Amino acid sequence: MVENQPIVAMRGISKRFGGVVALSHVDLEAYAGEVLAIVGDNGAGKSTLIKILTGVYQPTEGSIELDGKPFSMASHSDAIENGIDAVYQNLAIADHLTPAENLFLGAELTKKVFGFQALDNKLMKSEATRVLKDRLGVQLKSMDVATESLSGGQRQAVAIARAVRHDDLRVLVMDEPTAALGPQETARTLELIKVLKQQGLAIIVISHSLDDVFEISDRIHVQRRGQCAGVVKTADTTNEEVLGLIVGTRTAA
Ligand SMILES: Nc1ncnc2c1ncn2[C@@H]1O[C@H](COP(=O)(O)OP(=O)(O)O)[C@@H](O)[C@H]1O
Ligand SMILES: [Mg+2]
Repeated sequence: MVENQPIVAMRGISKRFGGVVALSHVDLEAYAGEVLAIVGDNGAGKSTLIKILTGVYQPTEGSIELDGKPFSMASHSDAIENGIDAVYQNLAIADHLTPAENLFLGAELTKKVFGFQALDNKLMKSEATRVLKDRLGVQLKSMDVATESLSGGQRQAVAIARAVRHDDLRVLVMDEPTAALGPQETARTLELIKVLKQQGLAIIVISHSLDDVFEISDRIHVQRRGQCAGVVKTADTTNEEVLGLIVGTRTAA
């Protein structure tokens, strides 16, 4: 069930980098329990849009609303504190660390040992195991391995688990989550997205694969040359129509 009020809404967002207009007056809304796909050619402004949504960039113009109220996001940690997080294209996973170390990278759990703060590796491992299993249905053969030894899909799960380990996460943004994956790993990642949607998250996925987009999304936001060329319901559109919006041979109804 999709609620009427979006969790988060971007209104009239523009972004300029010097003379480059990366975004021009773009609106976007994300709803609980919904997958919104963002598609568009290279340079269309997809990544910039979601970097603004996750507090990485500040918009030049426009505003963001959270639960219908104006919300100013000064930094990426502001976004995370307010339940918005992202899994990036270049996974930002430290290959030599274990899955648990990656999940808690920069936010390590500690315990007091003889009055000193020490890493609580046992707790981090059990928490990581729990998040992977309960939230994503993923069980690794061993948690005591370097993350680089895992398959692409498992590494993806670790990256996603890092975001969803925050129980108050409400909006998960993914920039090209299947770009570097083979067909089997892609299928697994799409399954993970469906599982998270069922848990009520709002999911925003940037993808170049219209097959993936049609399989998982409820709505499709088409970016073209910095502008939104249209937002269509996946069930009511076709591959051809979306391609037309991407290349500009069609305009939104
Ligand atoms: N940090 C930056 N500095 C300057 N220009 C940028 C920066 N990031 C993006 N751009 C430009 O903004 C436009 C949109 O880029 P981007 O959002 O990465 O597009 P997409 O993700 O759709 O490929 C492009 O013209 C790109 O070159
Ligand atoms: Mg991009």
